[in-house]
Amino acid sequence: MNEQLEHQEQQHEITSKWICTANHGFIAYAQEELRRRFGQVKAMVLIPSEVILVTLPVDESQVIRELQTDPLIFLRHIQPVQQEFLLAEAGQEERNAAILSFVQSNQALHRGQSVAVQLRKASNDAGAVDLALLKSALEAGLSESGMETVTRDSHWIVSIFAGKDTVYVGISTPEDNLSDWSGGALRFQREEGQISRAKFKLLEAERAFGLDLASFSEGLDIGAAPGGWTSLLLERGLKVTAIDPAEMHPSLLENRRLTVLKKNASEVKFRESQFDLIVCDMSWSPMQMVRLVMDLLYALRSGGTAIVTVKLMHKKPLQTIRDISEKFSEHLEIRRMKQLVHNRDEITLYMVKY
Ligand SMILES: C[S@@+](CC[C@H](N)C(=O)[O-])C[C@H]1O[C@@H](n2cnc3c(N)ncnc32)[C@H](O)[C@@H]1O
Repeated sequence: MNEQLEHQEQQHEITSKWICTANHGFIAYAQEELRRRFGQVKAMVLIPSEVILVTLPVDESQVIRELQTDPLIFLRHIQPVQQEFLLAEAGQEERNAAILSFVQSNQALHRGQSVAVQLRKASNDAGAVDLALLKSALEAGLSESGMETVTRDSHWIVSIFAGKDTVYVGISTPEDNLSDWSGGALRFQREEGQISRAKFKLLEAERAFGLDLASFSEGLDIGAAPGGWTSLLLERGLKVTAIDPAEMHPSLLENRRLTVLKKNASEVKFRESQFDLIVCDMSWSPMQMVRLVMDLLYALRSGGTAIVTVKLMHKKPLQTIRDISEKFSEHLEIRRMKQLVHNRDEITLYMVKY
């Protein structure tokens, strides 16, 4: 074979394998995003509507670079697949030893570094894999190699996914995986007296978008009741104006930094550039919500931030997203669009006013 042909053939062989996770019901959109970004995507379902195994026509480092520079909306978590162990080929103990030996042979892992072992399986009856046993075997072996095993904030993550007939194994950093939670399933602790679960969305947005809500001084919360988001903004020290025709939770009403307008958002007026933060979590038709937020943008100062939940009401989320981003882009720079773990049939936008 001549050199050029051989080179072309080698180029064709550059692929990488990944397990990709999205919120339940949205993996098809994550797959479509991957297709648009990387071209050809070979995919196999591991958990219906939620987890797929994909082969991409580029190497691992390129996938990581591209997803970190320009993250996708629906792809919540990825983990590389660097080795596969067929269940039929070995018994449990032998397989666990082989997985440990594969992990220990990774040249990037060093003594003194921390490692988290994250395991998932396709379903309760997925193969004969005892994940607890595998986890303790791996943790014991890694500790013996001088590594510290932890659950959060590790240098490395060993990701294991037990499918119907195969165990998929990969080693990467938390940043590579887009989340340091197994499968990206970040969870916040429910607090005593918490007003609404919706609060988790804003907490997650703060973390996912690298924001510090305490750095804002005056916020407008559109569609605020019962007040989960408002309560977080108050906790972060902001002065808050909350608009909603529905009742706010009584525990908030004593707060001297809160003004409540018990009205429809289309009926209110503010000073020009009064706020440096606008948040909106109305469960409304996307285009009506966009119009309403756009009509109130005069009250957001230039450079101010908007965090907005967009409900994906009908069956064409990607089209809805294109339409709303086109509208918002007239006055806002869209920094990030992401389906958060705490979004159901929604996504969250982080934008800054020009
Ligand atoms: C999902 S809830 C908001 C939950 C809130 N973020 C929290 O953390 O508690 C949506 C709210 O939007 C309000 N809403 C809907 N349309 C509105 C409008 N045109 N003006 C003001 N509020 C509106 C509803 O009354 C409802 O209370």
